[in-house]
Amino acid sequence: MPSSAPLIRSKANAHKPEAPISYDINIPYVDVDKQSKVSTPYPQYLPTWDPMWFNPLPPFDYHDPALRVKDRSKRNLLGPDAKVNHIQPSIGSVVEGVQLSTLSDAAKDELALLISERKVVAFPDQDLIDAGPEEQERFMRYFGKPNYQPVSGTVRNHPAFHVIHRDGNRDEIERFLSQRTTTTLWHQDVSYEIQPPGYVMLGLLQGPEVGGDTVFAATDMAYKRLSPTLQAFLDTLKVVHSSAKMINHTRLTGGLVRKDPVDTVHPLIRVHPVTGEKCLFLNAEFITRIQGMKEPETKWMTDFLMNHIITGHDFQARVRWQPRTIVMFDNRSTTHSAIVDYLDEEYGAKARHIFRLIALGEKPIPVYDEFE
Ligand code: SIN
Repeated sequence: MPSSAPLIRSKANAHKPEAPISYDINIPYVDVDKQSKVSTPYPQYLPTWDPMWFNPLPPFDYHDPALRVKDRSKRNLLGPDAKVNHIQPSIGSVVEGVQLSTLSDAAKDELALLISERKVVAFPDQDLIDAGPEEQERFMRYFGKPNYQPVSGTVRNHPAFHVIHRDGNRDEIERFLSQRTTTTLWHQDVSYEIQPPGYVMLGLLQGPEVGGDTVFAATDMAYKRLSPTLQAFLDTLKVVHSSAKMINHTRLTGGLVRKDPVDTVHPLIRVHPVTGEKCLFLNAEFITRIQGMKEPETKWMTDFLMNHIITGHDFQARVRWQPRTIVMFDNRSTTHSAIVDYLDEEYGAKARHIFRLIALGEKPIPVYDEFE
């Protein structure tokens, strides 16, 4: 055979299945610690994978704490030392001079109002970061019921924690980027639950000096930019949100699953209980179908709407993480993505370690009562 002849693969290797790429490169779905360089100053928050099982969550009453606020000036939350700087005119604020750990109930109600109004609020240098999982859970329980993670690593004995720990694992990152053109994954957290999260907390334990920001888009403003003709049509639509793809992927890659898939029909446009604004409630992760539409129509509609949201930089805010920052955001009026741009020649990625706690809220409120 001439030396320039193409290599013919042996039959044994011809159909070797390739390892699936990671579902979301921001977090591990399987235990990668053994391959990673573990350098966190918060080892208690490294992802754990203890087997446990959660049944579907039954409906519950929800009362948004923001609706208890009578005086909108927020004098309980924003004392004389508080400084509020807006990230963008209509989305995102950074608040200094407030320790979340010291808030009274009245101040927590006002915090819920502030988050509803600003959509994402960052509090740098919080002592709550070092107060331990019990205190952090207690704080978040004020804002709604906890959610137990169906997949992904949690804090041992605290399955409400979702651990974001992108530390190394060069092979996984390289495999991911050999198939994907970006690491961004726009989503709303846990949108497939019957009562999805309202308020969400992210706490930075360790992060790169530069990079690893989180970007948020305001979905009420995205809705407002559409024509009245399209708005009127969207107001009537219902969408299926499902955790099946995430759970199937986790099973396929040998990860731990703690809950069966949940499929829920939600209105495409939900009314915010505090601001009264209409918000687009869809994301690139959990939507499987728009009811009454054919597959290509669902794809066309969701592609258009997601493209509208993610290219609308005039209604987005990018949060830069300062040390010990806690970010609180409204999962009803935003969609977000981590930005995995902190890659590292030696280890694959610089250490980024964040915990997430969720407060489940109301069943999304449709525009029309007859939706029910
Ligand atoms: C998330 O994607 O839910 C967490 C955001 C982040 O890691 O910045």
